[in-house]
Amino acid sequence: MNMRSSFAADNAAQTLMLRASGIEKCFGAVVAASAINVAIPRGQRVSLIGSNGAGKTTFVNMITGYLKPDAGSIELEGVDITQMSPRAITRLGVARSFQIPQLFPELTVIDNMLVATACHGNQLSFWQSAHRRDAVARADALLQRFKLAEYRQRRVAELPGGVRKLLDIAMSMTGNPKLLLLDEPTSGVSAEEKFPMMDAIMTALGREPVTVLFVEHDMDIIERYSDRVLAFYSGRIIADDTPQLALATDDVRRYVTGTLRQE
Ligand SMILES: Nc1ncnc2c1ncn2[C@@H]1O[C@H](COP(=O)(O)OP(=O)(O)OP(=O)(O)O)[C@@H](O)[C@H]1O
Ligand SMILES: [Mg+2]
Repeated sequence: MNMRSSFAADNAAQTLMLRASGIEKCFGAVVAASAINVAIPRGQRVSLIGSNGAGKTTFVNMITGYLKPDAGSIELEGVDITQMSPRAITRLGVARSFQIPQLFPELTVIDNMLVATACHGNQLSFWQSAHRRDAVARADALLQRFKLAEYRQRRVAELPGGVRKLLDIAMSMTGNPKLLLLDEPTSGVSAEEKFPMMDAIMTALGREPVTVLFVEHDMDIIERYSDRVLAFYSGRIIADDTPQLALATDDVRRYVTGTLRQE
């Protein structure tokens, strides 16, 4: 596979948010990552695409420290995080949402936000009243931005899927991350809800200088909301370019979108 990229000669080191170099990861005979080399500048919005099992979630899991690569290194703003614990990486400003939202269904929306806040910060000081007032104010501001304020006192178990997904992302923002990883933010959301939902996410993040990597299958959403596409196939990156150019390559059409028949 012959890959050219407009991003290949990227950017001076000081503007880089993330650099993955020579990443390899196998699960037994399955190659989940191979020769992954990517440099992502601060503030970029990057979509990760690829068919089932291509290695998208594995890539996200290695950035968060949940999985360790077999070889290669990952740097966050020049700091080598390859061997750090997920907790240490979270403290450095990496947050994520999951393919299936990780919420507390019996708690209210605001209480879910406060639990997330407590998890990010110093948990002892959180329960002191001044810190708690501050945390509640910040949580409410995030709920406003994510258009979730009307659900503030509702139990999460009663809420529709799209609202839960938004809440999961709002919760991941409580620690003011520099790098936000969203694994299929619109999966399980109906076709009519997808665009309003992505709009709500991107509008909420609009004022933040946060770098966003999101796994997505919907090509319209990819074209509209990302600056850059990383296309995975069989653990490799087969295209790394603007959405327009990446989606037009033969490899992506053959192995990802299925718009070119496989030989
Ligand atoms: N913990 C694990 N143990 C064993 N195999 C795994 C593990 N995690 C991932 N894999 C395998 O690694 C490959 C890449 O999986 P990954 O979850 O990264 O794919 P994906 O691109 O996120 O796919 P999907 O679109 O289905 O979410 C798959 O073959 C998967 O079965
Ligand atoms: Mg996945």
